[in-house]
Amino acid sequence: MNQNEIKFFKKKELLLPDATALPFGYLAKAVIIKVRRKLWGKWRDRNARIVWTAAGVSDVSGPTDNVRNYLERKTIRSIMREVLPEARIRSACEVGCGYGRLIMVLKEFADRVVGFEREAHLVDVAKTLLPDIEFYQCDTLDRISQMGKGIFDFALICTVLQHLPDEFCRSVIEEIKKLAPRGYILLIEKTESIKVTGNATDADKFISRARPVSIYKEWMSPFALVKAKERVLENTYDNKSPGTYMLFKDPQLSK
Ligand SMILES: C[S@@+](CC[C@H](N)C(=O)[O-])C[C@H]1O[C@@H](n2cnc3c(N)ncnc32)[C@H](O)[C@@H]1O
Repeated sequence: MNQNEIKFFKKKELLLPDATALPFGYLAKAVIIKVRRKLWGKWRDRNARIVWTAAGVSDVSGPTDNVRNYLERKTIRSIMREVLPEARIRSACEVGCGYGRLIMVLKEFADRVVGFEREAHLVDVAKTLLPDIEFYQCDTLDRISQMGKGIFDFALICTVLQHLPDEFCRSVIEEIKKLAPRGYILLIEKTESIKVTGNATDADKFISRARPVSIYKEWMSPFALVKAKERVLENTYDNKSPGTYMLFKDPQLSK
């Protein structure tokens, strides 16, 4: 409310000095509604799953996020340049792409780029910001191939598997193999035990866990690990390299 509006309401005696100036009946009703909403909301949400937001996609914000995004895009670009030196590839995808923080790098190499994400509101943001990339909402990451969006020469998944329980993680990995059956798969995941949660099994609640490269190597078989590189984050993070870029390749791929 600006100063003019305040003056207007004061003049009309429409402004109360504070809430206690309300007739007691109104005040009591307002308090009851507020308390009921708080309690009822909590009770109603008790079994709700975690919803990922744009702010939650990264655990830093502002200038720090800007530096992190730069470092990550630069590393993805350099890895892709190394293995795809010749020309453009036909297609690439990102699984669990959030609002598309990193996916634009894939567009530098691939004619067709597709992002898959569970949170519909993040898909909406991504679609608006990056119109030359296709984005699809998917209810579960282990059934993407059934959506009929094709197969890809390159697939990326970044900081998604570290939020999944083992069994589901393995089915998502199997799904990514189906999405890039003759291609490259780049996993960027937490491999150092930093900021991990006690919860490792309940996917409806926040999970953050580290798995060593050897586990991902085993689960990605028969895809072969062709490159492992430290995930270096901004200088101010508690541990500058909490994860690893792990590039896998279909063994039948000649290059
Ligand atoms: C840390 S964010 C990373 C997003 C994006 N890859 C990036 O690097 O900006 C984790 C992503 O994984 C997705 N995710 C986490 N748990 C999931 C689950 N159980 N099922 C489907 N998606 C999940 C979230 O929706 C979110 O987009």
